[in-house]
Amino acid sequence: MTVLCVRSASFGDLSALTFHDIVRLRLDTFIVEQNCPYRELDGRDVLPTTQHLWIEDGGEVLGYLRMYPGAEAATWSGRVVTAPSHRNRGIGAQLMNHALATAPRPVRISAQARLEGWYAALGFVRCGDDFLEDDMLHTPMRLDG
Ligand SMILES: CC(C)(COP(=O)(O)OP(=O)(O)OC[C@H]1O[C@@H](n2cnc3c(N)ncnc32)[C@H](O)[C@@H]1OP(=O)(O)O)[C@@H](O)C(=O)NCCC(=O)NCCS
Repeated sequence: MTVLCVRSASFGDLSALTFHDIVRLRLDTFIVEQNCPYRELDGRDVLPTTQHLWIEDGGEVLGYLRMYPGAEAATWSGRVVTAPSHRNRGIGAQLMNHALATAPRPVRISAQARLEGWYAALGFVRCGDDFLEDDMLHTPMRLDG
């Protein structure tokens, strides 16, 4: 099995092509695949405190997530995505575990409710009631340890 390394950069250190490919994967997934119109480019990507993490192979972005300091004095993780052609091969877990290895605690996420089990396997626990965001059910989750 090929071992793929996790790359990370703030916006200022991302090439235009890499950012393009990351945004294309996010748009293809969260808006087209999940049929959910929402404001995908929320301004957070360009903040110097936001860290972009991704895995690529042969110039193709296969997985991505971003980490940033936010509300509740927490590190927030979001836009977690694996290219459809490469799901269920451990890419999402590899990216999350890499990010969690150094992220200041607590780490917070708004998980899509159907993925509560996936995040629980990474150590996250529910920290509130489900809520609707962009017409989609989300579960607040938190990692302390
Ligand atoms: C969620 C996502 C990022 C996972 O990425 P991935 O690279 O496929 O994940 P991994 O390969 O590391 O993990 C897959 C494993 O989780 C399991 N899994 C998938 N959904 C699960 C769920 N809802 N609950 C528990 N386990 C789940 C799979 O069965 C698989 O198990 P296995 O390793 O024993 O075969 C990917 O499915 C994706 O991009 N989905 C669309 C975008 C999205 O919804 N992102 C989350 C926003 S909160």
